[in-house]
Amino acid sequence: MVSLDDLEALRKIDEHGMLDFYMRWPEAIREALEMAEALDIPDELRTGEITIRYGRPELLAVAGMGGSIIGGDILSDVLWDELDVPIQVCRGYGLPAWVGPGALVVVVSYSGNTEETLVAFYEALRRGCMVIAITSGGYLAKLCTRTGVPLLSVPGGRATRMSFPYLFFPLLVFLERFELARGLRQRAERTAELLSSMAKELGPERPVEENEAKKLALELVGTVPLVYGFKWLRSVAYRLKTQFNENSKIPSFSNWFPAMNHHEIVGWEAGEAFLKVFSALLLRSRGEPPEIRRRIELTKEMALDKASKILEIWAKGSSKLEEAISALYIGDMVSIYLALTRGVDPYRTKSIEALKAGMAELRVAERVEKAVGELI
Ligand code: PA5
Repeated sequence: MVSLDDLEALRKIDEHGMLDFYMRWPEAIREALEMAEALDIPDELRTGEITIRYGRPELLAVAGMGGSIIGGDILSDVLWDELDVPIQVCRGYGLPAWVGPGALVVVVSYSGNTEETLVAFYEALRRGCMVIAITSGGYLAKLCTRTGVPLLSVPGGRATRMSFPYLFFPLLVFLERFELARGLRQRAERTAELLSSMAKELGPERPVEENEAKKLALELVGTVPLVYGFKWLRSVAYRLKTQFNENSKIPSFSNWFPAMNHHEIVGWEAGEAFLKVFSALLLRSRGEPPEIRRRIELTKEMALDKASKILEIWAKGSSKLEEAISALYIGDMVSIYLALTRGVDPYRTKSIEALKAGMAELRVAERVEKAVGELI
């Protein structure tokens, strides 16, 4: 195992500078907020036969895949008891039937080449939805230039998942600009401040004994992490599962309270020998409701005690947004340290690239480009 305090070794394995970029997340958040505020969104867009009117939406749909779309889930969880319009997260080819002209559809693809997301873009345009795109380039950028759809162009050349600040924080700005929520910008700025102090506490220079993320990573070595969240930390648990998959290159799964008490808990009857391979990683909040706290404590005693470890990440900050992003930030860092201590480059995702290459022969992106051309 590589020592997490051997900075030279860490930098050698982390060829693409993921750790260093995480240290710059607070600035990235501020930059993303400014970019989203400066984006020109017209009152009306006419392109070919299609007319789009940008007004107060009845629904926010966020369309994308993988690291590009997780921000939609987190937004929906964090604002669950605050928004008076639904947030619909759309993964897969196209959009659900009820997404129509009254919907604001934010299409997010970091590369701009994800075929499922391009089909969603086409559908949003065809149905006359209020479309906005977020991308660093690719087909999506090209299609926006061709159609005049507002495009938030974010810095490219990184992995999608490390670019989370650019893919998530603009959504908060859009909610405010379309008068669906208030005070989000302020909360986002406080989140950036919180992450500035967390970056110092979790960064590579901080030795293992004083570094929560390094300690957790070492605890997780050799186990399959099962990550549990609840309410505003629900999708953060899923995010961490995907980060253990993509950064650490290990299997990992997630679930949430109270849902897991109604099915998964029974799986924990399987017996200790069977369950030892798992570690349980619980996302906790000082503000968790008493019924959730009771469920977590009971589940730890009755079921998770058969895991090889029970670990916890306590969210920081005062708003649900700060709590969600702080837990995500710690978890992301844990997944990177876990990769590095195993000598694995956290950046590369060979299997995703190979799968996408295998799909390319169906030429979905090219077909979407042609179909958009026929629409306008
Ligand atoms: O993290 C990743 O690289 C993936 O989950 C991608 O986000 C996913 O494949 C979609 O690609 P993109 O984000 O470029 O649209």
